[in-house]
Amino acid sequence: MTDAIQLAYEERGSGPALVFIHGFPLDRRMWIGQLSGLAKIRRCVALDLRGHGLSIIDDPEPEFSMDLFADDVAATMDELGAEQADICGLSMGGYVAFAFWRRHRNRVRSLILCDTKSEADSDEAKAGRDKTAQLVREQGMEPLHEQLGPKLLGSSPTEETRTSLREMFLAQPPAVIAADALAMRDRPDSTPDLPGIDVPVLWIHGEEDQLMPIDGARATAEKIPGATFAGVPGGGHMAPMENPRAANDALSAFLKK
Ligand code: MLT
Repeated sequence: MTDAIQLAYEERGSGPALVFIHGFPLDRRMWIGQLSGLAKIRRCVALDLRGHGLSIIDDPEPEFSMDLFADDVAATMDELGAEQADICGLSMGGYVAFAFWRRHRNRVRSLILCDTKSEADSDEAKAGRDKTAQLVREQGMEPLHEQLGPKLLGSSPTEETRTSLREMFLAQPPAVIAADALAMRDRPDSTPDLPGIDVPVLWIHGEEDQLMPIDGARATAEKIPGATFAGVPGGGHMAPMENPRAANDALSAFLKK
């Protein structure tokens, strides 16, 4: 197995770095509303995890883990010359943010967790990951989009949001998405880490998130000392994409503190 990779990222603005980590099965483009809305207050950097978007790997059957992704975030920060950053991850990106906290906590200025959860997968969810991996390997991304796409959105997404979500799904290599599913299956429980997180934390969550209901998220955030919680009206699981204004307001208020 070779391990040649090239990590891509997109950046806007200047000042302290704010690094965005995308969810499954997407890429950096999900953060476009944050890059344009927050560039006045931060050097906003949205990265493509290995194999996603414009990040290249040459292994046709890759294997991933949240730790590996976290180390890629650290490598991207090295390239940016950013010793520390505000780390913002959505859903799978949140799992990566928890791994980053465990492995590189001295590089975290603050944590922003969006539409994510701390628990590991149940046995039933693990079996679902195997099925997802098999589905995309055998049939590609279209059927996964049909199954999962609508569940990621709240009740009134714009046509633009729907279209860009679909484009991101279909742009990802199936072998990469299969590897994501298996890496999420095997991720550890991050709940024991919550009480020890001692940097400022903002938790942003779509009020209409069907995959990870907001009440559970609020209860998880309460386990992090001093965490700020912000519900996003009209937002589903992709709250920062669906209602960038509300998500950006919460982010700006938190980052200016
Ligand atoms: C995501 O949006 O990244 C996924 O829904 C995470 C998951 O399937 O656990």
